[in-house]
Amino acid sequence: MELTFRQLHPLFAAEARGVDLRSVEDRATLEAIRTGMDQYAVLVFRDQPLADDEQLRFATRFDGTLHAKTGAAVLSRNRFGNEALTDISNLDEGGALLKADDRRRMYALGNRLWHTDASFQDPPGRYSMLSAKVVPPVAADTEFADMRAAYDALDGETRAMLEGLRVHHSIAYSRQVLGFEFSPEEQERLKGAVHPLVRRNPRSGRRSLYLASHASHVVDWPVPEGRLLLRELTDHAVRPEFVYRHRWRVGDLVIWDNLATMHRGQRFDDVKHRRELRRVTTLDIESAASI
Ligand code: OGA
Ligand code: MN
Repeated sequence: MELTFRQLHPLFAAEARGVDLRSVEDRATLEAIRTGMDQYAVLVFRDQPLADDEQLRFATRFDGTLHAKTGAAVLSRNRFGNEALTDISNLDEGGALLKADDRRRMYALGNRLWHTDASFQDPPGRYSMLSAKVVPPVAADTEFADMRAAYDALDGETRAMLEGLRVHHSIAYSRQVLGFEFSPEEQERLKGAVHPLVRRNPRSGRRSLYLASHASHVVDWPVPEGRLLLRELTDHAVRPEFVYRHRWRVGDLVIWDNLATMHRGQRFDDVKHRRELRRVTTLDIESAASI
């Protein structure tokens, strides 16, 4: 079968069909998926029941280097014994629902803020691949915002002002916003990273706003002024016309480009309903080298 795309939103996001991600190996198809990512920024693959090792292998074939230094790793050991496999669930190591006041749950609630994955590291996250294992009977969707369209919609004066600005990203910051505190030792391991506010995809040439809940301040600007700018740009970028909402089905594998999008999880009753997904994220080696 041939790989085809059906667009899901007027600006971005498409459903990809005609490929089995467990076995896809040929360069032409992998390249066609990458080209699809350059165009749509979010690709939804239905009915892809990948085992954990198959998901890791596909991610490696697709983009090389995997992100394995997650923020969660400073809190507790990964229940799969592999830090490259991020546990996007509300379960403890025994498979039971996390209690309301469990520290791991409070940390994970940060995913409900608009963010990009691993922007608090250098190199940051590039492609995230999230595989749905258990989906609750209530809506527990993930929203994506197209940061290229958001950039394109800025006026020329604002675009000129943003050129060359750099932003400090820190997970300690994004968690503190919600009232979650890391210990001094944990903070020491989570120092953050600096990235340009505007990023350009070297393959498509499109620019995007590189924002996230982790974006703490603009380097060389007074902190309040930078925070106000980041807040203003975020409010602009998550306007409804830039947002696609994904309703999960078991077996979905969704890939997004962290340089071209932001995302957030939707609130649901997570102390009552199980929700279990696994994420693998690759590192942005390519543009880290080209900045
Ligand atoms: C993620 C994430 C949101 C969700 O997997 O990186 O932010 O809805 N997920 O689970
Ligand atoms: Mn995320």
